[in-house]
Amino acid sequence: MWKDWIRPFVRPLPQWSTVAVAPPQQVVTATLRWDGHSADVTADHTVASLVPLVIATSLDAGPRPVLEYRNNTTGTLLGVLHLAQMASVASETTAITLYHVAAGGHRCLGWPLRSWNAWLQNRLMRKNRAPHHFAPEPAAVQQLMIAYLCPRPVVLVSVDAPGHQNIFPMDLIGPLERSGLFSLALRSTSASVSVMREVRRVALSGIPAPMKAVVYKLAEHHKHPLQDWNALPFPARPSREFGIPAVAAALRIQELSIVHSQDVGSHTLFLGRIVSDEKLAEGTQLHHTAGFHQAYRRRHGIPLAEV
Ligand SMILES: Cc1cc2nc3c(=O)[nH]c(=O)nc-3n(C[C@H](O)[C@H](O)[C@H](O)COP(=O)(O)O)c2cc1C
Repeated sequence: MWKDWIRPFVRPLPQWSTVAVAPPQQVVTATLRWDGHSADVTADHTVASLVPLVIATSLDAGPRPVLEYRNNTTGTLLGVLHLAQMASVASETTAITLYHVAAGGHRCLGWPLRSWNAWLQNRLMRKNRAPHHFAPEPAAVQQLMIAYLCPRPVVLVSVDAPGHQNIFPMDLIGPLERSGLFSLALRSTSASVSVMREVRRVALSGIPAPMKAVVYKLAEHHKHPLQDWNALPFPARPSREFGIPAVAAALRIQELSIVHSQDVGSHTLFLGRIVSDEKLAEGTQLHHTAGFHQAYRRRHGIPLAEV
């Protein structure tokens, strides 16, 4: 149909695609390169803040490394982020390095569609930008989409303290493998930040892909704590050591003991250690990836299953 042909020229691709992927994702590999060195950081880098856009890793890769994302099967380069070292975060005996994203680009779409799609997306972002509302610059969102070339798993984070209970979705999370730490980047305005800093423990429920709608609904709890665990729209089960209510249908429940937290731009970066890890079910987990990544995969006949 001529409409299918004309669509990419008048309408931008969606920024994000919600997909069902068996964890841990193995469709895209991330490699850090610096001064003749390279290291696989697929399970050792995470987003620490959105404004400014900051990446955390347990490697010290010098002042100006490059982060490459490649299709794991073919080795094709999909996108690149150019990083600039900001600071080290010392926690217990390990250190994490923070990198500001200085520039980036992707190759998921051919030229001129790549530039045209970015222009259409940026125009839409500027149009929908509410005044006084936190929002990264369109250029930073383009770079964030590159960081999502590695599909990011969605979990529900449960917090339980006297007088405060909450459960909300997060995807700015992940292991920083070499350090043994696990990170969460939570907007500093979120309702549970101060309680998490105090109680220093959370439970993470790995979300089966079919639970997308109910999980998105729980995003309201970034602003408003949960009134009552009994009001949850699904059955809960206590996490193993801490007894924090978590999702009974979760693929996996991990308990995190928080060892460090600090402000990084718009977000609070929590670093923790996994104290228990219950693998409860096989199946696909809800993930987010960039819309242009899914368009690339569709063009090559290898789309991820959308939910
Ligand atoms: C699936 C999903 C994952 C999210 N992950 C994070 C996260 O990792 N960190 C965070 O600070 N907020 C996260 N959010 C929250 C949203 O970015 C946003 O802050 C929240 O929905 C409140 O929106 P508003 O303040 O823009 O109205 C997530 C939301 C959803 C639906």
